[in-house]
Amino acid sequence: MDKKINSHHWLPFTNNCDFLDDPKLLKSASGMYYWDQYNNKVLDGGSGLFCSPAGHCVESISNAVYQQLKRLDYAPHFMRATEQSFQLSEQLSALLPDPINHIFYCGSGSEAVDTAMKIALAYHRLVGNGQKQRFVSRERSYHGVNFGGVALSGMLKNREAYGVGLPGVVHMRHTWLEGNSFTPGQPEEGAFLAEDLQRHVELYGADTIAACFVEPIAGSTGILVPPKGYLERLRAICDQNNILLVFDEVITGFGRTGNPFASQTFNVTPDIITMAKAITNGAQPMGAVAVSSKIYDAFMDKSESGLPELFHGYTYSCHPAASAAALESLRIYQEEGLFERARSLTPLFQEAVHSLADLGIVKDIRSFGLLGGVDLKSQLKPGILGYQVQKKLFEEGLHLKTTGDCAILAPAFISEPIHIEEMINKLKQVLQVFDAS
Ligand SMILES: Cc1ncc(COP(=O)(O)O)c(C=O)c1O
Repeated sequence: MDKKINSHHWLPFTNNCDFLDDPKLLKSASGMYYWDQYNNKVLDGGSGLFCSPAGHCVESISNAVYQQLKRLDYAPHFMRATEQSFQLSEQLSALLPDPINHIFYCGSGSEAVDTAMKIALAYHRLVGNGQKQRFVSRERSYHGVNFGGVALSGMLKNREAYGVGLPGVVHMRHTWLEGNSFTPGQPEEGAFLAEDLQRHVELYGADTIAACFVEPIAGSTGILVPPKGYLERLRAICDQNNILLVFDEVITGFGRTGNPFASQTFNVTPDIITMAKAITNGAQPMGAVAVSSKIYDAFMDKSESGLPELFHGYTYSCHPAASAAALESLRIYQEEGLFERARSLTPLFQEAVHSLADLGIVKDIRSFGLLGGVDLKSQLKPGILGYQVQKKLFEEGLHLKTTGDCAILAPAFISEPIHIEEMINKLKQVLQVFDAS
C-alpha cells in the first residue's frame, strides 16, 4: 500500500483508505431508516450494530436522556449511586432468569466481558478455589476487543497482531457443521461438540478452570446457532466441575430470540450473563454483567469488611444518561410488546432469509429469532467479497454488517413485513450481480 491518506479521524474495523475515497456518512435516522449525506434513504437491516430493536430516534428515549442530563449530568458510582441505577437493576433482574439478580454496570460489551472474567476469578478466590484461573471459550466467538475478550475470542484477525495476549484461555470447536447447512433454527446434530469442554477438563483439570464463556448464538461470526442439546451439555459439565458458565448475550439479550434473554429461549441458565447494545436501544453506551445470587452473596459475605468487595469499576459505570436511556428502552420494549413482536416476526423473517438459498453464490444460511447469516462462496481472500457486498448494498440502500464473507441480518423488532421484503429483495439483487460477475 503506497497510497498515503491523511485524516484526523481513524475509524474502527474499517479500511480507512478505501473509506476516505468515498465516505459513507450517516446524517440522520428515524424508525427503520438511516439517511446519508446525500439524503439517500438507507434501510437498516442490522439494527445499527444489533443495537436498536425499537428503531432509531425514539423520541421518548431522546427526551429521557435530555431531561436526565439537565437534572443530573454525571454521577460517580464509586460510593455514590442514583435512584435510577437501583430502579434499572430491579427492572433488569425481573427480566433476567432466576437466580441471576445482581447487576454490575460498565460502558460497553467489551467491558462487560472483561468484568465478567474478573468476577469469575475473584469469586473462585473468595470461596477458596484461587487456583481456578483458566477460561474455556470457543473458536469463531466474538467477545469484544479488550485484552480479556480478545483472548476469549476465536477470530484470527482480531488476535494475530496483539502478541500472546492473556494466557490460560483454551478454545472449544465452533458449532458450525457442514451437514447442518441451510438449517433454519437449531440443528439436530452437534451436541457432541460440547464434549470439547469435558476434554479440556480432562486435559487441564477441573480445579484449574474458572469459567466457560459462550455466546448462546455466535453473532458476529455469522449466526452460528447451538445444536439441540449443546448448551444443556455445557451446563451439565460446568455443574459437575464447579466451572462458572457465562453467556455473552451482548447480541442475543433484549428480545433478539423472542424472550428477554436467549438463556430463557434455550432454557439453560448460566451463572453470569453479559449484556450491552440494546440495553439502551443503542441511544447511549452501556454494558452490564448480571450474576447469580450464589456469586453475589459470596462477595457480600466473604469479602474483607470495610473495603470494596470488588476492586473494579469504571468512571462511566451506570452513567445517569445511559440509565435514563435504559429505563425508557425497557419501558418501550415492555409496553409495545417488542419481544413478543420479535417472536411473531420470526417465521416470516426466517422464510424470507432462507429464500436466498437458490442463489448460486450462497454457500449456507443459518437463522434463529431475528438473526440471519448468509455465507457467500468466494474465490477471493476471505473477507474481500463480503466487504464488497456490504459496500454495494449500502449504495443500493441497505445497511447490514458482513463478517468475513457472511452477510448478517438483524432487523429491528418494529420491522413490518414490507421492511423484511425490502431487505431480502435488495440483498437478492446485489447478490445476483456478484453471482453473475
Ligand atoms: C457477543 C459480544 N460480546 C461483546 C461484544 C463487544 O461489545 P462492544 O462492541 O460494545 O464492546 C460484542 C460486540 O458485537 C458481541 O457481539
